[in-house]
Amino acid sequence: MFADCIENRKGKMFIDGIAAEELASMFGTPLYAYSERRIRENYRRIHSAFYRRRKNFRLNFAVKSNNNLTTLSILRSEGAGADCSCPAEIMLARMAGFESSRMLYSGNYNTDEELSYGFDSGAIINLDDGPLLERLLRFGRPGVVSFRINPGTGKGKYEGLVTAGPDAKFGMMEEEAMRAYRRAKEAGIRRFGLHMMSGSNVLDPEYFPAITERLMDIAGRISSGLGIEFEFIDIGGGFGVPYQEEESELPIDEVAQMVVAKFEERIASTRTMGDPALFIEPGRYIVCDAGVLLASVTHVKKAVKNFVGCDAGMNTLLRPALYGAYHEILPAGKMDEAKTIVANVTGQICENTDIMGRDRKLPDLAPGDLLAFLNVGAYGYSMASNYNTRTMPAEAFIIGGKAYLTRERETMTDFVRRQIVPPAVMRDEQ
Ligand code: LLP
Repeated sequence: MFADCIENRKGKMFIDGIAAEELASMFGTPLYAYSERRIRENYRRIHSAFYRRRKNFRLNFAVKSNNNLTTLSILRSEGAGADCSCPAEIMLARMAGFESSRMLYSGNYNTDEELSYGFDSGAIINLDDGPLLERLLRFGRPGVVSFRINPGTGKGKYEGLVTAGPDAKFGMMEEEAMRAYRRAKEAGIRRFGLHMMSGSNVLDPEYFPAITERLMDIAGRISSGLGIEFEFIDIGGGFGVPYQEEESELPIDEVAQMVVAKFEERIASTRTMGDPALFIEPGRYIVCDAGVLLASVTHVKKAVKNFVGCDAGMNTLLRPALYGAYHEILPAGKMDEAKTIVANVTGQICENTDIMGRDRKLPDLAPGDLLAFLNVGAYGYSMASNYNTRTMPAEAFIIGGKAYLTRERETMTDFVRRQIVPPAVMRDEQ
């Protein structure tokens, strides 16, 4: 559960060799701090697990999980591609040096402007519904097109993380997909991909070969039914990470072995698919445990329950409020002190759902003490908001034993920067 970038040295938390308290005093709180080394380690572990077994393989990093340009630059330097969900993510990936041919643009419910941006960017376009093709074709004919399949079932740690199955807003069922590829073929498109993303934070190793098999069966029927081959088949992300003591790591080597075996077995038995590249697009697996959120205790209240208030709330890290997600919370400067209180850890937001952790055992804490939220490198900063007129936090990286600020903290003046008050609203005073 603790990534190796986190250490307890004589009661003080260190992140890749730098004291959490030092990071907080350098950059202030709330602060997202990331280990560059851990991101590279995670990338290499998952990439090599697959690549060792299938050379025709590509990993596209899910930018939505962490859109910091330093993260993207690290992953580009490792050789990753980019999975982008919108034009801004394409722009960021391009700024980080990704070539457009190494980007996949998987939007959903796209506007025409977005389709046009995607087309012009040169990214491979992955469409979430059949009729989007006609809209895309108005901007030109893409060299290659891909469709997102709903394989009929999905899985995720929380209900909100299931992205396939009858209730999912994503992708298309086989029948609709068959129509979509037929239309694409009739429109003169000759190169195809096929995609799914069925759920997130899955720790069950058996799930991955099972869902791959389901997708490959659909791909096989489409390819033999329409006489088309696939350049790639993308099984999405979803590779889970333990957040809680009782969870264990996903055995990624075993997962890759089972997935590649199913993938290749189905290619061989169908014989009509060509030799598609296997694509995966993990976010969480690569960045989650490389990120720590540092927050300062602001006030401790002893009411019916004990509350430890801090300067990171649902605006800073939404996952606990949105999914009931668990994040370990450690007293970064009092790691060895006896845990004498049981408290709910809360932010400063005017919502009773602003609970970051329930019934946590913590030492006696006072304003100014530092808390560390673990496993926040994925869907942490990228889901933060300005709610309650709070500024967005800062982000820092530890690289080669040195700390670097990689995104400035927002300031209060940012709230007025893009606002325009129409003079007409002042008429009562005129
Ligand atoms: N590809 C697509 C098309 C996706 O929509 C996602 C995530 C990924 C790849 C990466 O999935 P990963 O490997 O990170 O599981 N906000 C939630 C996670 C939602 C995931 C949505 N899609 C959370 O905080 O847990």
